Amino acid sequence: MSAEIAATPSRKAEIEAKCFSCHGPMAKRAGLKDGALPTLEMVYTDTDRSQILLDGVSCTVCHQSTEENFGEESGYSGNFVVNDYREIYGPHANPFGMPMSRMSGYDPVYGDHVLESALCGTCHTLFTNTLDPDGTATGDRFAEQTPYLEWRNSVYNDEVTNLSPDAASCQDCHQPKTSVDGVEIRTEIARMGGMHGGMGGGMFPARSPYGRHVFVGANTFVPTLIRDNAAELQPNASAAALNATIAAAREELQERTATMELVEASRVGDRVRLTLRLENLAGHKLPTGFPSRRAWVRLEVIDDTGEVPFASGVTDDKGRLLNLDGEVLASEAAGGPIQAHRNLISSDEEVLIFEDIMGDVNGNATFTLLRAAVHLKDNRLLPKGWNPNHPDAEHTGVYGAASQDGNFVDGADTVTYEVRAPVENGPYRVRAAFLYQTLNPRFAAELFSFDTAEVETLERYYAASGSPPETMAELEYVLE
Ligand code: HEC
Ligand code: HEC
Ligand code: HEC
Ligand code: HEC
Repeated sequence: MSAEIAATPSRKAEIEAKCFSCHGPMAKRAGLKDGALPTLEMVYTDTDRSQILLDGVSCTVCHQSTEENFGEESGYSGNFVVNDYREIYGPHANPFGMPMSRMSGYDPVYGDHVLESALCGTCHTLFTNTLDPDGTATGDRFAEQTPYLEWRNSVYNDEVTNLSPDAASCQDCHQPKTSVDGVEIRTEIARMGGMHGGMGGGMFPARSPYGRHVFVGANTFVPTLIRDNAAELQPNASAAALNATIAAAREELQERTATMELVEASRVGDRVRLTLRLENLAGHKLPTGFPSRRAWVRLEVIDDTGEVPFASGVTDDKGRLLNLDGEVLASEAAGGPIQAHRNLISSDEEVLIFEDIMGDVNGNATFTLLRAAVHLKDNRLLPKGWNPNHPDAEHTGVYGAASQDGNFVDGADTVTYEVRAPVENGPYRVRAAFLYQTLNPRFAAELFSFDTAEVETLERYYAASGSPPETMAELEYVLE
C-alpha cells in the first residue's frame, strides 16, 4: 500500500479507501460512520480504532454481512452490506442468544447466507480503477483478483440448478468440517463461565456441521515472515499458531491442490522426450488471487554419473529461477523479459510458469496494482469445467500464448520437454516437481524499487529468507 501511494501520491486518500475496504474492513466501516477513515499512518498509532484496523478481516465482518448484493457487481470489491441492527448471522437455527447479546452487544441470529460462496465473493472479487503513468484515471477497470468468478465458471459452482458431482462452496474447501485428525466435528458452538453447555450442561445443543475457521490457502510465506520477525512485528498470534497455519497451507498444497503425471517418456539416440500433464484440483485458477503468486515445473535429467545435462525451473535458496550455470534468469529481475507460456521446452533458460502478468496502458509489464490495464499473460491453470462461453469468462480469461495452446484446457495443461542426452551417458533419471511460490522474485524486485519505510522493512525480511517454493507434486522416472 505504501508503494502504491509512492507511485501516485496525489491519490493517497483514494488508495487508502480502496485497500482498507478489504484489508481493514472493520475500521473502514466505522470510519464511514464517524468520518475517521483509516489512513496508513493510523496503523502506527495505538488506539481502539487502530486495533480494529490491524485486526483486518475479523468476526464482525463476515458475520454481519447481509446477503443484499451477494453475487452482484455492486457487492464486489469489498462492497458487502452491513445493516445497523448489530445482528450476527450464523448457520445454526435457534441460537441461544441471551448471554452473547448481554456480553457483547451483538445478537446471534440464524442466517444461512453465511454458507454461500457469494459471501466470500464480495472481497474475493477485486476490480481496480486503472491509472495511467501520470496517475490520471482512465475510466477503465481491471479485474485484479477473481477467485469467486473463476469458481462460478467451474464444476464447483453450487449456485446453478444442475449441480455437478464436484460442486463445492468456498466454505466446503476452506473451512474443514472435520478435526485435524479427520473426525467429523459435532460440538456446542459456545460455552459460558468456562463450563460446557452453560450452567451444568445441556443449555447449548451440540451442532454439526461445524466449519473450522482456518481459511487455509496457499500462503506459507507471510505467516513464516511474521513468525521469524515476531520480535519486531509483535503479532498477537503465537509462533505455535503461525506454525499451525503454515502446516495447514503446506498440507493443502501437497494433498489437495494439483497433480502431475508423466504421460510420455522416450529416448531416441541422443535425445530424451518427456511429456508432463499438470492438473488443477482447486476450485478456481491455480494459482488464484493476488498477482504475485506463481506455479512452475522443475525438471531435471540426471545421467548415470549423477551429472545433470539438463534442468529447467531450478531455484536458489531464495526461490529465484536459475539456468544450468547457476545464474539467475533475466526474467527474475526488475525490468526483465517475461517468460512466455510454452508447450515445448528445450533450453535451461525456458521455464513453464503459470502466472498472471499485468500490463499498463502502454502495454508494458507492471507490478503496480493501480497501473494495471490489461493481462499481458494469464496462463494460470483453469479450474475444471471452465467454459469460454460462460458469462464470467470475460473476467477469468486466458491471455498470451496459452490461448493458442490446444492442450491448455479446463483443469489441466500438458507440456513436452525435448532434451539432448548423449546415448553413452544413460540410463537417465528424470526428476520433476510442480512448485508454488507466494511472492515471486520479479514481483518483489519491482516492489523494492519503491523507497518507503514499509518496503524497506519487507526487503530486509525478504533478504534473509527469500520466498522459497512449496512443492505441490513430485515424480521420478528412469529412462532405460
Ligand atoms: C476487494 C477486496 C480487496 C481490495 C479492495 C484490496 N485487496 Fe489486497 N487482497 C485481497 C485479498 C482477498 C487478498 C488475498 C488473496 C490471496 O491470498 O491470493 C489480498 C492480498 C493482497 C496482498 C498480498 C498479501 C499476502 O499475504 O501475500 C497485498 C500486498 C495486497 N493485497 C495489497 C493491496 C493493496 C495495496 C490494495 C489497494 C490498492 C488492495 N490490496 C486492495 C483483497 C483486496
Ligand atoms: C471470512 C469470514 C468469516 C470470519 C472472519 C469469521 N467467520 Fe465465523 N463463520 C463463517 C462461515 C462461512 C461460517 C459457517 C461455516 C460452516 O458451518 O461451514 C461460520 C460459522 C461460525 C460459527 C458457527 C459454527 C460453525 O462453524 O458452524 C461460529 C460460532 C463462528 N463462525 C464464530 C466466529 C468468530 C468468533 C469469529 C472471529 C474470531 C469468526 N467466526 C470469524 C465465516 C467467518
Ligand atoms: C475444490 C476446493 C476449493 C474450492 C471450492 C475453493 N477453493 Fe480456494 N483454494 C483451494 C486450493 C487447493 C487452494 C491452494 C491453491 C491455489 O492457490 O489455487 C486455494 C487457494 C485459495 C486462496 C489463496 C490464494 C493464495 O494466494 O494464497 C484464496 C484466497 C481462495 N482459495 C479463495 C477461494 C474462494 C473465495 C472460493 C469460493 C469462491 C474458493 N477459494 C473455493 C481449493 C478450493
Ligand atoms: C471483508 C473481506 C473478506 C471476506 C468477506 C472474505 N475474505 Fe478471505 N481474505 C480477505 C483478505 C483481505 C485476505 C488476505 C489477507 C492477507 O493476506 O493479509 C483474505 C485471505 C483469504 C484466504 C487466503 C489465506 C492464505 O493466506 O493463504 C482464504 C483461503 C480466504 N481468504 C478465504 C475466504 C473465504 C472462504 C471466505 C468466505 C467464507 C472469505 N475469505 C471471505 C478478505 C475477505
